[in-house]
Amino acid sequence: MKEVNLTLDVNEKPPILKWIVLALQHVFAMFGATILVPILVNSAAGQTVLTIPVALVTSGIGTLIYILCTKGKSPVYLGSSFAFITPLALGAVKAGIAGAMTGTMVVGIIYVIVAIIITICGKRWINKILPPIVIGPMIMIIGLGLAPTAISEIGISADATFTDYKSIIVALFTFLVTAFVMLKGKGFLKIIPFLVGIASGYILSVILGMVDFTPVIEASFFSMPDFVVPFISYVPSFGALLTIAPIAIVTIAEHIGDHTALSTIIGKDLLKEPGLNRTLLGDGIATFAAGLLGGPANTTYGENTSVVGMTKVASVWVIGLAAIMAILLGFLGKFTALVSTIPNAVLGGVSLLLYGFIAVNGLKVLIENKTDFSKSRNIIIASSMLVLGLGGAVINIATVGVSGMSLAAFAGVVLNLILPKDDVEEKDSNEQKNLEEKKEDEDVDSNDINKEELVVLDHPLIEHKLSILRDKNTGTKEFRELVGEIGMFLCYEAMKDALLEDVTVETPLKKIKAKRLNEDKYAFLPILRAGTGMLDGLIKVIPNAKIGHIGMYRDEETLKPVRYFFKVPNDIKSREVLVLDPMLATGGSGCDAIEQLKKEGVEKIKFLCLIAAPEGVSKMQKEHPDVKIYCAALDEKLNEKGYIVPGLGDAGDRIFGTK
Ligand code: PRP
Ligand code: URA
Repeated sequence: MKEVNLTLDVNEKPPILKWIVLALQHVFAMFGATILVPILVNSAAGQTVLTIPVALVTSGIGTLIYILCTKGKSPVYLGSSFAFITPLALGAVKAGIAGAMTGTMVVGIIYVIVAIIITICGKRWINKILPPIVIGPMIMIIGLGLAPTAISEIGISADATFTDYKSIIVALFTFLVTAFVMLKGKGFLKIIPFLVGIASGYILSVILGMVDFTPVIEASFFSMPDFVVPFISYVPSFGALLTIAPIAIVTIAEHIGDHTALSTIIGKDLLKEPGLNRTLLGDGIATFAAGLLGGPANTTYGENTSVVGMTKVASVWVIGLAAIMAILLGFLGKFTALVSTIPNAVLGGVSLLLYGFIAVNGLKVLIENKTDFSKSRNIIIASSMLVLGLGGAVINIATVGVSGMSLAAFAGVVLNLILPKDDVEEKDSNEQKNLEEKKEDEDVDSNDINKEELVVLDHPLIEHKLSILRDKNTGTKEFRELVGEIGMFLCYEAMKDALLEDVTVETPLKKIKAKRLNEDKYAFLPILRAGTGMLDGLIKVIPNAKIGHIGMYRDEETLKPVRYFFKVPNDIKSREVLVLDPMLATGGSGCDAIEQLKKEGVEKIKFLCLIAAPEGVSKMQKEHPDVKIYCAALDEKLNEKGYIVPGLGDAGDRIFGTK
């Protein structure tokens, strides 16, 4: 998966003010859809099934459960699911709140069962049932299926009794402000386009006299959401199970699709790490908890995925704070009332962008998986799914209505399994299967390395230089030069996500705005002795970085590191530190060096080495998952003496000519 330049990486915590504003943006992104679900379910069911405060609280609790289950590795926000609007309404009509909530809890249990099966049997069977040709159109259906909601929020749907031009003006204004900020916003403004759009739209609505503040005046400051709990508020009922449970197939596809889309956006394969089993487990327990408290089923929110995509802020801290804010908001009576005064037209203006973004993600799944639409088989599957999913189809079996979305998912899965493949496709898919199997086996061999967090320089020039370096006949002078040079290339790669500062520069022709690196934010830390060999190359490219030293050698018997020196710059903890050591063998020395740095308060650390052994990478990733490793080559293994094979021998001795 391609490396992506993120403004904030998954585990990065922003400074407090920025953190709050970024989280608020996520709250606003999920807000419209999350509060809309109770409104639409109640109006479709003709009774109060769900309430806005409970929907907010269960969305926040669900997101926190998801973050815990995924070990904080996946920046996904969970909100009320649109896919469940029709099933919940039908379920409530058939079996009351008891039926709707029991059905929701069962969906959660289905996710958990699927997660357990994936943990035991792997996820290959899911890929078979839900390949990109099924998932892509399904995401498009979910996105485009929401399009009428945006249109009716703006007030221009066919069933609107009259055209309210004020609504159109407000929606258009909100849309344009959001789009403009997205395209032209500078610095921090650029990453909060939705917040700016909604705030601007709201102010215009107030000016145009479209907002009635009576609900805010009448509301109390704090109020307890009306939780609906089994055995206290109702006796569980399975009367709506068949109406609600089958929709799990749609939402599992949506879940995979959202995670696939987010993986592309943040450059990390989330289906591998933390893994589909963990993400589904999180979604499942969250959905169960929502049903338990009387909230709508949770789902991974495309709206928030799109915020991550547009802002490149993937911090799980931001998502976590947004979840806490959502919970608190559920208890703030005045706030819930204030939010209920945001005119639909404002929500419609941002939805115009957001819902389309979900559909475009479905398209991206198809494009990125190189789905070939010159093949009739693919055309048949996608076409039938789109028509069934978007045409408003409903099949009534007795009192149970199966919605178009369920029909589309069902049709996609079945058609994909039964339609004949041509010979070439069959061969391709067998090869693909073999490749996947081989990949899964390799993953086990390399000690469960998280390859997303390991950058291996993949370049002909590096391979060329490494081949000379590995050669036992290469002399000290050339060896030393090569270690420095490769060190420089590693530094180049490690600085890819460096944040630049705006400066004004006068060229001989004109004044321009340019970007500069603040070199004072960095420090290099070679592990003595061999690490100093790499230093040469790094100070050529970032000459103003400060330099610390850690002295340690590896005890030849125990292979454990023995410390003998430690001297680092006074202001080390405010710097990003690149730790340098040509060899990452057992990982003992590198991990120990990082531990010492963390004790000094250093928060941002990267580890740069020439050759890494899978054992060392695995140890470092387990002990210091926040430290990204950059290497020129990932070798086969360690031998019984702890030397990397094929390796290059003893790096220190070869650099300094001591043997
Ligand atoms: C080498 C290498 C690393 C360490 C790697 O140093 O430069 O520091 O071994 O091994 P590990 O991952 O198993 O801990 P060495 O102990 O040979 O010291 P030197 O740099 O002084 O040669
Ligand atoms: N240290 C080295 O210098 N080389 C190895 O292969 C392992 C540790």
